[in-house]
Amino acid sequence: MSALRFSSRFNPMLSNTILVQTKSLLFSFSSFSSSVRKPCKTLCCSTNSLLHTNGGTSNSSPLSGLEDELVGYIFGKKKATEVAHLVWRHVLHKGDIVIDATCGNGYDTVAMLKMVADESGHGRVYGIDIQTEALENTSSLLDETVTQKEKELVKLFPICHSRMDEVLPENTAVRLVAFNLGYLPGGDKGIITTSKTTLLALEASKKMLILGGLISLVVYVGHPGGREELETVEAFASGLCVDGWICCKFQMLNRPLAPVLVFIFKR
Ligand SMILES: C[S@@+](CC[C@H](N)C(=O)[O-])C[C@H]1O[C@@H](n2cnc3c(N)ncnc32)[C@H](O)[C@@H]1O
Repeated sequence: MSALRFSSRFNPMLSNTILVQTKSLLFSFSSFSSSVRKPCKTLCCSTNSLLHTNGGTSNSSPLSGLEDELVGYIFGKKKATEVAHLVWRHVLHKGDIVIDATCGNGYDTVAMLKMVADESGHGRVYGIDIQTEALENTSSLLDETVTQKEKELVKLFPICHSRMDEVLPENTAVRLVAFNLGYLPGGDKGIITTSKTTLLALEASKKMLILGGLISLVVYVGHPGGREELETVEAFASGLCVDGWICCKFQMLNRPLAPVLVFIFKR
């Protein structure tokens, strides 16, 4: 049996351990007081309301309805990026404003554009990448996959994502900031996201996000600096207050190089 651990972190108010049977999977939901908590290596949630509410309604859970997709990820049937897209779809509405903080080859940009573009020309994707090559690839993919009208809803910026607040109009209400960290597939592996600028970008994202919004990260740990970057992301998410944020991580214990998903929901 694949045992998953749902761990409530940093909330000394929660002290119970609940076992939840979902289909054929046994999810172990545990919470720790701050004095006994240890880093959780599989699936860590900052509250007890992500998939199964504990006294509340299931509608209040930001991942409710996505159980099958998450189980698909656990059994290797869904890629991390696919799961990220499903979670975005769950959170986004037509007309929303979103940021792709690492455009790369444009697949994420196209996916989020399809989710937010509406008939009347609302919705906006701000796409950022430090490499012009990546933005050219993104632009080409947009040409191939969306209409000209839809493409006009995308604004691309060749800057570091730590400067995202410089290119967005003041007080823009952003529903999603997505990071797909690492290097450009098929590009220069030496040009890579770093802990320092990722942390600055997370701080900037936090300020721009509206209530109900999401910071989504796919973190790769197989390259030099990847693990350190994951630790930085974890430390950032772990430090957010439970009342304002729900922070969780999906990580496979026995696939140590598999990408790690981190979702940071603003309540
Ligand atoms: C894994 S790729 C992104 C994949 C992409 N989202 C897609 O759908 O194809 C990571 C991208 O992050 C970009 N990057 C690296 N450091 C950056 C930074 N400081 N600011 C913005 N982008 C950065 C790289 O140039 C690379 O294109």
